[in-house]
Amino acid sequence: MKKNSVTIVEMGVRDGLQNEKVILDVDTRVEFITRLSEAGLKRIEVGSFVSPKWVPQMAGTADILSKTQQLQKTGVIGKKIEMSVLVPNEQGMREAIQSGVKEIAIFASCSETFSKKNINCSIDESFKRFGPVMILAKKHKIKVRGYLSACFGCPYEGKISEAKVVKLAQRMHKLGVYEVSIGDTIGIAHVGQVRTLFKKLKKAVPLAKIAGHFHDTRGQALANILAAYDLGVRIFDTSLGGLGGCPYAPGATGNVATEDVVYMFNGLKAKTSIDLIKLKTINSWMTNKIQHPLPSKAGKV
Ligand code: HMG
Ligand code: MG
Repeated sequence: MKKNSVTIVEMGVRDGLQNEKVILDVDTRVEFITRLSEAGLKRIEVGSFVSPKWVPQMAGTADILSKTQQLQKTGVIGKKIEMSVLVPNEQGMREAIQSGVKEIAIFASCSETFSKKNINCSIDESFKRFGPVMILAKKHKIKVRGYLSACFGCPYEGKISEAKVVKLAQRMHKLGVYEVSIGDTIGIAHVGQVRTLFKKLKKAVPLAKIAGHFHDTRGQALANILAAYDLGVRIFDTSLGGLGGCPYAPGATGNVATEDVVYMFNGLKAKTSIDLIKLKTINSWMTNKIQHPLPSKAGKV
């Protein structure tokens, strides 16, 4: 990656839509992915193989993969666009493999209570579940990304120690993931915290493998991204329009909006290769589909 370029990983289709009341059908989600790819997004998380009883919004992920892979074959979606899915356990991994994925993401929490609420097991148990997932990934040459949730605070436990986050990030990295995404699940982080935590993380995990995943509940996400950028972080997770949140983090709102982040990096001359005008068109289209305005500021101007 060039020094002044930034990678944006689009979360709208998964992290965004998983928390919307209106459930979008497979074809609409495929159109969303196609539009995002046309706007220049190169990495898109397109769904999850979790229990449809827990997250009904993500049902149909296998069909999404089959349709988008077809669209890649015919050149409608660029061949280089990387599409990934969330996988919590071996069952999800086996379904992902059957769907022909090239990339998955595993996810663990820094809070025991959040782990239990989100995936019904302890932190240790979640890492045990990743064992067979990683073995299958290696066998099938599937890239694996790792998320850590509640890195700056938990909706149930409050403060989370930085030492614990660093230790878990190292543990995730040692599993063999190619990137560790540091999650502010409930949008509680502030610049002071970002500075101290990311300075510690940089010593524990190679900087090029650290991503920032900021939800924007308190309107601090752009400032937090800038603070992480100043420390050398170059990969950020964002969601079109600021869609969504986490179904098991009460009160949490969506990820920081892709449009707002692209606007900020355009101003810094940090290349994202994303077309802001096209993002705004997707914003209007999506607002219509989910029947409420999206929080993004730059997406509406
Ligand atoms: P469980 O109930 O403990 O699972 O759920 P189980 O192993 O006891 O099995 C119970 C039933 O679930 C069985 O079905 C299994 O087949 C089924 P039944 O016999 O009752 O019909 N099952 C599955 N079905 C589909 N896919 C699977 C699967 N595994 C078991 N993979 C489980 C455990 C993890 C499945 C559940 O807790 C779950 O699906 N949780 C959803 C978690 C989720 O998607 N949360 C939101 C994403 S995380 C997030 O947003 C944070 C992030 O953005 C970063 C950040 O912001 O911090 C990544
Ligand atoms: Mg999230």
